[in-house]
Amino acid sequence: MQLERLLQSQGFGTRKACRNLVRAGLVTVAGTLCDNPSADIDAVDGLPLTVDGESWAYCAAAYLVLNKPAGYECSQAPKHHPSVYGLLPWPLRERGVQSVGRLDEDTTGLLLFSDDGQFIHMLSSGKRKVPKRYRVTTKHPVSGELVAQLLAGVTLHDEPEPIIAAACEAVDSHQLLLTVTEGKYHQVKRMVAAAGNRVEALHRDRVGHYDLPADLAQGQWRWLTVAERALLHGLGG
Ligand code: URA
Repeated sequence: MQLERLLQSQGFGTRKACRNLVRAGLVTVAGTLCDNPSADIDAVDGLPLTVDGESWAYCAAAYLVLNKPAGYECSQAPKHHPSVYGLLPWPLRERGVQSVGRLDEDTTGLLLFSDDGQFIHMLSSGKRKVPKRYRVTTKHPVSGELVAQLLAGVTLHDEPEPIIAAACEAVDSHQLLLTVTEGKYHQVKRMVAAAGNRVEALHRDRVGHYDLPADLAQGQWRWLTVAERALLHGLGG
């Protein structure tokens, strides 16, 4: 692949802007300065680049995980709070990575991003019923009755069928682990309200068999490993 096209694919700007970066001597490929924008590069995942002092590893498609902090909206055009996209480096925003589904502004935890449309669809399509697990902190003490209601199904406004929790257990006097397979608007908050309690805090810690990495601090992101991607892909059936 021509070097200027390769840089464009990674989100470093228009083809012309990338050509200018290369011509200005600002690009290295595998540690070697390359000032020919038309140079034919073997584009393999992991190929190390530096662009204007920034280290980058080439990737044909981007797959990443963010530990979302509270106070960020999952929108490119946020209304009241900063955007989660502002927590990602600009080349990733530029190349069009999208969040896999959305979390509310005050929800924390596991949020995946990609620019691979099939991957996003596979994980967010309602038909796939991918389980998403939330740690729910409640206003009132959790009771056996609350857990039983969520497992039996609760009726939500505008939903014809009751919504049934795929799993639910009390883990503390005011905490539930609740798994749902849909991705409806404010779903967990509405389910808990319909069962007579109220969500005080919401944290997603698992999607499918993939757990939020314990060493990923709030506000931090990282690339998914090949093994993690396979774990998530396995959900697609
Ligand atoms: N359910 C909610 O109510 N909010 C979220 O952010 C995610 C699931």
